[in-house]
Amino acid sequence: MDEKIYLETLNKMKQDSRLLCMEQYPQHGSCNTYKHSVNVATYSFYIAKYFGIDVHEKDLARGAMLHDFYLYNIKESGYSAYKHGTGHADIALQNAMKHFELTDIEKDIIYSHMWPLNLFRLPKYKESVIVGAADKISAVIERYMQIYMYFYGYILRKNMAWVW
Ligand SMILES: [Fe+2]
Ligand SMILES: [Fe+2]
Repeated sequence: MDEKIYLETLNKMKQDSRLLCMEQYPQHGSCNTYKHSVNVATYSFYIAKYFGIDVHEKDLARGAMLHDFYLYNIKESGYSAYKHGTGHADIALQNAMKHFELTDIEKDIIYSHMWPLNLFRLPKYKESVIVGAADKISAVIERYMQIYMYFYGYILRKNMAWVW
């Protein structure tokens, strides 16, 4: 993996006003959807790096940042947890396609990231598998380990500080 390409792409996405608007939507624990997406992109980076997976850097970073681009407040949406869980990947994909030019890998990352809840949406690409795994790890940490995340997330980001 070319770390420079990944981090430059991620940095660009982090500053994009279309993504910054996700800050207004709460997620797990005290996290919001923007912070969660940055966490997922951070874990995706480290999974690819430490397992030595040769990924498409731009698609992985962009897919991680867009995987939850559903743009609503879950509590105010009226959706049940199940309906949100199974339906938000489609909404995120529609929104992302409206605002960005997506590759097939990026589309699959968003479409399949709720596997295995969406049982028949098996990830087609290794980048989709990585984001799916990073999403689950992030959700557990954000929900149950907020203090740990505060320090550990800080350390992870410090290591990437040359572009962050
Ligand atoms: Fe999601
Ligand atoms: Fe997510």
